[in-house]
Amino acid sequence: MSQHDPLWQRFRGRTWLTTGHSDSPLRAFDALDEAFVDHWPGERVAVVGERFGSLAVHRWRQTKSVVIDSACGRAAMNSASTKNEVHAEFHILSDLDPWTQINDSIVLRAPQAVALFRWRLARAWQLAPTGSKVLIGARKKDWSSGHQQVVDQLLNDVQTVDTNSRLRVLQGRLERGEETDDVPWRSYQALGDTEIWSLPGVFAHGRLDGGTRQLIEALDLSFAGRDVVDLGAGPGVLAAAVAERGAKAVIATDDSALAIGSCERTLAPWSDIVTCLHSDVGETLEAGCADVVLCNPPFHLGRAQSGHIVDAMLLCARRALRPRGQLWLVGNRHLDHGRRLKRFFASSKVARSELGFEVFVARR
Ligand SMILES: C[S@@+](CC[C@H](N)C(=O)[O-])C[C@H]1O[C@@H](n2cnc3c(N)ncnc32)[C@H](O)[C@@H]1O
Repeated sequence: MSQHDPLWQRFRGRTWLTTGHSDSPLRAFDALDEAFVDHWPGERVAVVGERFGSLAVHRWRQTKSVVIDSACGRAAMNSASTKNEVHAEFHILSDLDPWTQINDSIVLRAPQAVALFRWRLARAWQLAPTGSKVLIGARKKDWSSGHQQVVDQLLNDVQTVDTNSRLRVLQGRLERGEETDDVPWRSYQALGDTEIWSLPGVFAHGRLDGGTRQLIEALDLSFAGRDVVDLGAGPGVLAAAVAERGAKAVIATDDSALAIGSCERTLAPWSDIVTCLHSDVGETLEAGCADVVLCNPPFHLGRAQSGHIVDAMLLCARRALRPRGQLWLVGNRHLDHGRRLKRFFASSKVARSELGFEVFVARR
């Protein structure tokens, strides 16, 4: 099986694509999707925070809009629609789009980041007609007092729908709230006085990650005249570092629409040389497009620790690099990225090892 062969699962009589990755530990649906299906709130529903489309496609006749952040999730949702011969015409939205089409009941999978949860529920609160039903769910271990505070502020008639001891599923009603254009951006200064912008839910929202800092400090090559890819760019801080050091062209790519929105703002000073791509593991990158690839890969997917995405990124980096091109990669020491690199690259070495992080440089 290749990295991108689909993996199909059965759920409530239909067939679902899990993700594009054959060895992915992710499931197309989980106990929370089951609870949402069982407590579905109405005939016109917006699914906010959809993952791989199983909920929207399963309930396609009643789903009108879907807010989905992940490029991989969008692809899985399209494949599931085709495979199940579902001819749904959802409005597919990201957090960056206007949500003017959302004037329905809402099913909301609460993200771990409270700031993102607050923003999403507040937007629904501004748009949905008074009295709209809302069904909110999360795993109990992802539900904090901050989530509860948001619910207490914005929902009326809240009831707990106890379907499973490991889930928090609530239903309530929205009173229409005041409209505001506030987007909860955060920024900090790095690399001198460059402003690094991020939306909630984006990696290291509002602060410089320790691993990212190690990678920036370790980069000891000249970028002048070089084409660079920032793979899994998050708020775009690595891309900004090389744009500032004179790179010829920079591609910042990420699976998350929130991350790409953040990159676009961070990298606006270099918009003439930077391209921001919303794509799963850079799958829209052309082979041989880069002299240097920079990567601080994710190793957690939700709460699951997973190496499959690191492997997918290494494969992508190898494909994107020109002969003698370099991959610069950072990770926590215990993740043993050195072992993984040996599988995909002709040579690799540790360029820096400090504060629990290892920075590697690898050549094709
Ligand atoms: C550890 S963060 C690093 C972010 C940024 N490079 C930094 O150092 O601050 C990893 C990034 O990979 C992105 N990511 C996760 N899965 C991905 C995938 N399948 N394809 C592309 N990017 C992905 C995440 O959205 C996240 O922004």
